[in-house]
Amino acid sequence: MENIYLDHNASTPIDQEVVNEMIPYFTNQFGNPSSGHWASQDAKEVIDNARGKVASLLGCHADEIVFTSGGSEANNHVLKGVYTSLKQKGNHIITTKIEHPAITAPCKYLESIGAEVSYLEVDSYGRVNPEQIKQEIKDTTILISVMHANNEVGTIQPIDEIGEIAKQYGILFHTDAAQSIGKITTNVDRMGVNLLSIAGHKLYAPKGIGALFIKRGTPISPLIHGAGHEQGRRAGTENTPYIVALGKACELATEYLSHSDSIRELRNHFWNELLKIYGEKVVLNTRLDYCLPNTLSVSFIGVEGAEILSKIPEIAASTGSACHSGNIELSSVLKAMGIKEHVGIGAIRFSLGRTTTKEEINRAIDIIRERI
Ligand SMILES: Cc1ncc(COP(=O)(O)O)c(C=O)c1O
Repeated sequence: MENIYLDHNASTPIDQEVVNEMIPYFTNQFGNPSSGHWASQDAKEVIDNARGKVASLLGCHADEIVFTSGGSEANNHVLKGVYTSLKQKGNHIITTKIEHPAITAPCKYLESIGAEVSYLEVDSYGRVNPEQIKQEIKDTTILISVMHANNEVGTIQPIDEIGEIAKQYGILFHTDAAQSIGKITTNVDRMGVNLLSIAGHKLYAPKGIGALFIKRGTPISPLIHGAGHEQGRRAGTENTPYIVALGKACELATEYLSHSDSIRELRNHFWNELLKIYGEKVVLNTRLDYCLPNTLSVSFIGVEGAEILSKIPEIAASTGSACHSGNIELSSVLKAMGIKEHVGIGAIRFSLGRTTTKEEINRAIDIIRERI
């Protein structure tokens, strides 16, 4: 039986066009982009070109893009860099209870060195109420960080409304767009963000490359100090092949965004079939109309997530709970959404991708029906 990959929110395969584009920069064009000789010939130019492609997907200027080693570095850069830069002005950061650990862990670290962090509640669909953000703002608030779309359940946040509030109060606004990039529109102006993080491996580029959008004039210290790469904002010799890859992936994403309806249809078909089979024994963990088009987070009532996955080993998907010393614990996201334990322990995230076919979804449905 052939394997079926339904875990694109964890990581995507690298697009063949992306692979083709990056290969020369591993082989004959291996030179340091800062050198002036034949081995680095056009490295500077291709890096600038890639920067332009990332900027074009985000709707910003090329000089507002800093390449990073991924989403985690971009998020760390935002939190630590803004805190370092603005701590004389204030120490308060507003975020949510459903962020990725690449936000919550640096927040915890900043709390240990004097920051005050408010973690906003979400509703039962995983959405933040923008009015609640208003209530949390104080004189010392220096940053609001709310993810664009959640990695586990796929819920999309009302980012543009939050952006309006941030602008009204003159507070820097960051969004972690690692999961939304390439799946839905991510235009920095429309979203009203000063800072935005992306991760290449969620976008058909390799793992270990990402980017941070820093709006011109945003006060933020570097995270990595050293030589003057990336206009002094991120030291380290540029990873030319991966940067080229991210540029190509962003170019392709612009094209694929127009295909999101077909992924949504496939995801909805998957859900409708599960509902036909299991009736009340399967529930959605969020509303599909609040959700990324590729994500289906469901709970099978009365069965444990890990047990489900062990019965369908040819299907790659994720659970929403983990077993710690014999006790099953729901993920912090499901907990924050108030999902009951007997429901959440059966949570499975299926996430579709560009290459997922209807035949694969139908086969997955048959496998699930047979074994669960
Ligand atoms: C929402 C979100 N933010 C950040 C990250 C971290 O990105 P990276 O793996 O590139 O460090 C991930 C990856 O799972 C993610 O889903």
